[in-house]
Amino acid sequence: MEETLERWQSRRAFILAVTGAAVGLGNIWRFPYMTGENGGSVFLLLYIVFVLLLGLPMMMAEILIGRAGRRSPMQALAYLAEEAGRSPHWRWLGLFGAVTVFFILSFYSVVSGWSIEYLVDSINGGFVARSPQEIGASFETFLADPLRMTFNHTLFMLITMSVVAGGIANGIEKLNNIMMPLLYVILIVLGGYATTTSGFGEAMAWLFTPDLSAISWQVVLNAMGHAFFTLAVGACALMAYGAYMPEEQSLLRAVFSVALLDIGVALLSGIAIFSVVFSHGLDPGEGPGLMFVTLPIAFSELPGGQIWLGAFFLLLLVATWTSSINLAEPMVAMLVGAGWRRGRASLLIGALVWGVGLLSVLSFSTLAEVHWIGEMNFFTLVTTVPTDLFLPIGGLLIAIFAAWRMSPEAASAALGASGRGFGLWRALVRYVSIPLTLIVLLSGLL
Ligand code: TRP
Repeated sequence: MEETLERWQSRRAFILAVTGAAVGLGNIWRFPYMTGENGGSVFLLLYIVFVLLLGLPMMMAEILIGRAGRRSPMQALAYLAEEAGRSPHWRWLGLFGAVTVFFILSFYSVVSGWSIEYLVDSINGGFVARSPQEIGASFETFLADPLRMTFNHTLFMLITMSVVAGGIANGIEKLNNIMMPLLYVILIVLGGYATTTSGFGEAMAWLFTPDLSAISWQVVLNAMGHAFFTLAVGACALMAYGAYMPEEQSLLRAVFSVALLDIGVALLSGIAIFSVVFSHGLDPGEGPGLMFVTLPIAFSELPGGQIWLGAFFLLLLVATWTSSINLAEPMVAMLVGAGWRRGRASLLIGALVWGVGLLSVLSFSTLAEVHWIGEMNFFTLVTTVPTDLFLPIGGLLIAIFAAWRMSPEAASAALGASGRGFGLWRALVRYVSIPLTLIVLLSGLL
């Protein structure tokens, strides 16, 4: 298989694509409810530590493999392994990544469908003058309606796969360029509004006063999984994007700004959501519905709230759209690498993911009581295991490959750093990121 000649059209396009992959439901939907379920401040603190010590260096590892290999993840790994005289079995890591993103995308699309529902509802004035109780109840009603949910899930898969079918660098980055700053503006407005609510002080204390009594290996493992998820690391998805990275660009700087933005978005959305939670005496551990219940309440109290709410869900949809495109890319790239046409590959992958997504849809009605492992229904299973287990395992193997197995010359050229910079990165990955991930994984499992 030959090198790919496709490239992002500019340096900025690559940064935007990676930002688009990183910022999404992970920051705005998953981060707050995971924080709520895992004891607040401890989870937040661990998440930030893991982003900096594991996420950042491993993100560089993952992108540099793609950039050095210039092929789809499986082929890039096979090629680089051969070049360095290592086992050809490293290629299976690419397949493992594809399996991981397969399951993640299947629920990601369903939850993005909830945003479509809320976008339409807010345009129709569905949240005007509603009490918090009514807003909560309407979410429950929606969850119990598999047909409406399937419709939105289908729509979301269609808009995702139609972009992926067209190939990269076709304008999606430009859309991002406009929409992401707007999303940030809305979040800042929300954060500003949050400071005026009665629950603001309590929310801040709960988020930022470390309470070590809440800590357990389970919490540490969840925080680590979330750090991988929110940075889109560990499933070879950024590796697929790295293959299209322009020749002369510093990876270090690109990755650093993405991580800071990612943390910023999560913090703002956490502050807004928990202010509402504490102002209205809601339960921080409410679970995956947290954002969908709290934000309509927050916006309904803001002047012109209806418009803000509609705009928020529109921008959130763009953010999840660019993330889901990234989730689909490694699977499609794998088939394209095996000689498939892009359109066909997208159709097949889209159909399969859509089908498995239906199990998540039905987890709120027909299949609610069907338990797969322990107490978990399908939705709970698919929102936890691939993220908290598969991503760290994938990230670990990616890091081992980049820092121990690949040829150092190829790695440092692809990182765009030589001498001290490269040495520092490699030491961090070898002696901090890899052992830390191993310890947390093993302790969390036992
Ligand atoms: N990071 C995205 C979010 O926070 C989700 C995502 C996009 C992702 N691409 C990924 C997660 C690849 C794991 C692997 O919403």
